[in-house]
Amino acid sequence: MVLLFIFLCLTGEDEQLHEMIIEANNIGAPIHPTMYGIFFEDINYGADGGLYAELIKNRSFQFPQNFAGWVTFGNVQLMNDGPFPNNPHYVRLGNPGHQQKHTGLENEGFFGIGVQAGSQYRFSVWARCIGSSQRISIELMKSDRDDDSQAFVIQELVIDSTEWKKYELVFTSELTEFHCHFRLFLQTSGDLDLCHVSLFPVDTFKGRLNGLRKDLAQALYDLKPGVFRFPGGCVVEGLNEKTRYQWKNTVGTVENRPVNENLWGYSSTFRFFPQYYQSLGLGFFEYFQLAEDIGAEPLPVLNVDMVCQARNTDDQQLPLSMIGQFIQDALDLIEFANGDPKSTKWGQIRSEMGHEKPFNLKFLAIGNEQWGVLYPERLERFITAIRLEHPEIKIIGSSGPNPNDIMFDYLWNEMKLLKTDYVDEHYYRDEEWFLSHADRYDSYDRTGPKVFAGEYACHGTGRKVNHFNASLLEAAFMTGLERNADVVHMATYAPLFAHVQGWQWRPDLIWFDNLRSVKTCSYYVQQLFSVNKGTNVLSLKMNGRVVCGKDGQDGLYASSVWDDKLKAFIVKVVNTQNVDHRISLNFKGLEKSVKLVNGTCTTFHSDDLIIENTLDEPYKVVPIESSISIDGHVLDTQIKAKTFAVFKFIKVIDEEND
Ligand code: AHR
Repeated sequence: MVLLFIFLCLTGEDEQLHEMIIEANNIGAPIHPTMYGIFFEDINYGADGGLYAELIKNRSFQFPQNFAGWVTFGNVQLMNDGPFPNNPHYVRLGNPGHQQKHTGLENEGFFGIGVQAGSQYRFSVWARCIGSSQRISIELMKSDRDDDSQAFVIQELVIDSTEWKKYELVFTSELTEFHCHFRLFLQTSGDLDLCHVSLFPVDTFKGRLNGLRKDLAQALYDLKPGVFRFPGGCVVEGLNEKTRYQWKNTVGTVENRPVNENLWGYSSTFRFFPQYYQSLGLGFFEYFQLAEDIGAEPLPVLNVDMVCQARNTDDQQLPLSMIGQFIQDALDLIEFANGDPKSTKWGQIRSEMGHEKPFNLKFLAIGNEQWGVLYPERLERFITAIRLEHPEIKIIGSSGPNPNDIMFDYLWNEMKLLKTDYVDEHYYRDEEWFLSHADRYDSYDRTGPKVFAGEYACHGTGRKVNHFNASLLEAAFMTGLERNADVVHMATYAPLFAHVQGWQWRPDLIWFDNLRSVKTCSYYVQQLFSVNKGTNVLSLKMNGRVVCGKDGQDGLYASSVWDDKLKAFIVKVVNTQNVDHRISLNFKGLEKSVKLVNGTCTTFHSDDLIIENTLDEPYKVVPIESSISIDGHVLDTQIKAKTFAVFKFIKVIDEEND
């Protein structure tokens, strides 16, 4: 025995058997299909320069510095009476005054423009000639201009109408370049007007025009998210009334959507991005469409008649007298999503944009991270109006930015009084918090509003990065969400995306540069929960207690579910300690005739706790699936130190033993 103990210590294994009893015949609370979802905000260049596949920055010359992102040469004039009233600026290219000179402009894209060899790109522009037809050159130039020829794509386009008209041209790049620039110049000697200068990859997600970057949208699809929160975050509130997110500005003709300032451009003094604006090309139509494409329920967040409280004092807040307009925006959004395509104004706009059928919106969050007495008094008015016209819509209220303080308690109480359907909780917390809060929801009130964990992530102490350990602790904590799926109906990690050159906030779920993307360890944890979420909770206990890492539980966390579609038992176990543990999974209560077959164990493990997946090495830590078999209804096995494991068995009836 002593020898065995020494052996186990040397091998880092604990000799104690941790027996987990799963009440396999006692199907518990349903797990809502919305349980694991995504939260998108245009932060870290998540939209323009990221998911939204437009490659030209400031395509409408509408940034306050109208030529931000552009360099002009020759005779270029800025005009402001163009064909799109919300974006009236355009450029007039004229004769440069000497045969040796040229007139044109160059765009730097978002941290350069990324193009792939063999891929097609669609250039488009609204243009008119003044008088006779004019010819322009369209080029892509290498970032390294030392070569003989700067341009590696050279195309020509004739502008032949004196009326504003959209021109398009598709070309193939022969080179892969991460940071090229775009150039356009006049080949003829007359005058020409250009606006909304645009360049997209042809191969967008689902091949859509005005589309989304394929690898990033596919990464969302692969998460199988149940719910999709959008568009923020602080951008919902804005720094002030003018810069708040207004959904009506994000629908209709893309050329006419007014550019909006993005507060993330100046929020972090250690990382300024003064040229961070929202083109709103990825607007509410594109959002609803993406939600549908990836099978997630849309959950828009709307402004509650308040600007960002973290960036404003109460006396800078919007007056209550404005609230009618905000409430009308909420009602109109419901109509845009669900209204009849013929008899309603906003339903018709949706239909004209290409989606006749309703989007079947069911959820609406009013307010992002709000607090204090100003919030409930505003929220109440929204609730009254929405319940009156749309009792079918579930309303989500805020509990502020912290998961446990006076403000949080006050707001939760207010949400109960106001009878919101859900309360949005946010927790960006450190390792210790995630380790010690897996039992957070075990004692929650079951009678009030349900929980939407709308923003959370383990922020490791020291450098806040997406290392393996943070994801392991998220997994440990998430077993507590799953065990309490009767009260927690939705959870969305945040933020979702970050450009490696343009981030303001980290950690984030998916990182990318101009051509590549990488799924973080946290992504894989989210995915393992999401694709194994099951349909019902099953009770799982160790020595009669839930397994939440508390005293005497040796850093183990666990939850179990039944999947009625797959007819499968799924058990998630997280070992947060430095030693391997022996565990047994006892599927109690099953009849003798029940066999557990096709067993798999998917493990997510790393010996190196601070390891990260990177763009250059994206698969350093990935889940690994292997087959396992079970003797009867009890699996005796081992979970390695620092491991998240998902066990799955299909239930079949053995006719012979029936
Ligand atoms: O996710 C980043 C920010 O965190 C969100 O914009 C805000 O809601 C929270 O403070």
